[in-house]
Amino acid sequence: MRGKLVVGNWKMNGGLAPNAALLGELAADWQAAADRKIAVCVPYPYLVQAQAALQATPIAWGAQDVSEHAAGAYTGEVSAAMLAEFGCRYAIVGHSERRQYFGDTDAVVAAKAKAALAAKLTPIVCVGELLSEREAGTTDAVVLRQLDAVLAVLGADAARVVVAYEPVWAIGTGRTATPEQAQDVHATLRARLAKAGAGDIPLLYGGSVKADNAASLFGRRDIDGGLIGGASLKAAEFLAIARA
Ligand code: 13P
Repeated sequence: MRGKLVVGNWKMNGGLAPNAALLGELAADWQAAADRKIAVCVPYPYLVQAQAALQATPIAWGAQDVSEHAAGAYTGEVSAAMLAEFGCRYAIVGHSERRQYFGDTDAVVAAKAKAALAAKLTPIVCVGELLSEREAGTTDAVVLRQLDAVLAVLGADAARVVVAYEPVWAIGTGRTATPEQAQDVHATLRARLAKAGAGDIPLLYGGSVKADNAASLFGRRDIDGGLIGGASLKAAEFLAIARA
């Protein structure tokens, strides 16, 4: 179901003490954005810390990846069932950093989304083009290829995912897509999702979202919220984005 959703992606940042401060502030101040759905996706070792710190709040928590496999001899992997066992709601799959640095292909991303859904987690499926692809005019082709790979594997279950459009050139660069650029891609993705019977899912934008640009992005017709990297590491900034 659509509705505003703002998700923090801490990436590989944090530590017990700074997390305690950040989670404590979120737990104390979430009412400021009470009409929005909020979640934080934290590194695996801190899932339990997030669970404990956020249990009295409506803030959900999730992982930043998940194994495509259910169980067995896959050293270093974490299964969706393990995450689900103690209350994890979301798992990001296909983040561009996983695609770029860890070789997650479209097929692997689709398998991870399927594994997450099988354990009743909500996968946050990321798509997005490189700067060279945007400059070559292939943005729509790239994001639709990435989306189609997931839709093909999920079938009717596609209506249970969240999709995040994150142009790679906007991630961590301070260079945000304009609201028009983001809306254009979101409209393309929404049309394809609608054809697959999933037109009503939340479609998030990610890439250098800050408190001062969130409102103009989230105000667009097909942008239902954001996937927030750097700015999710500061409680006040993150909650200001969630309120936007
Ligand atoms: P930044 O908000 O730091 O640009 O990161 C975006 C992102 O990759 C969220 O998944």
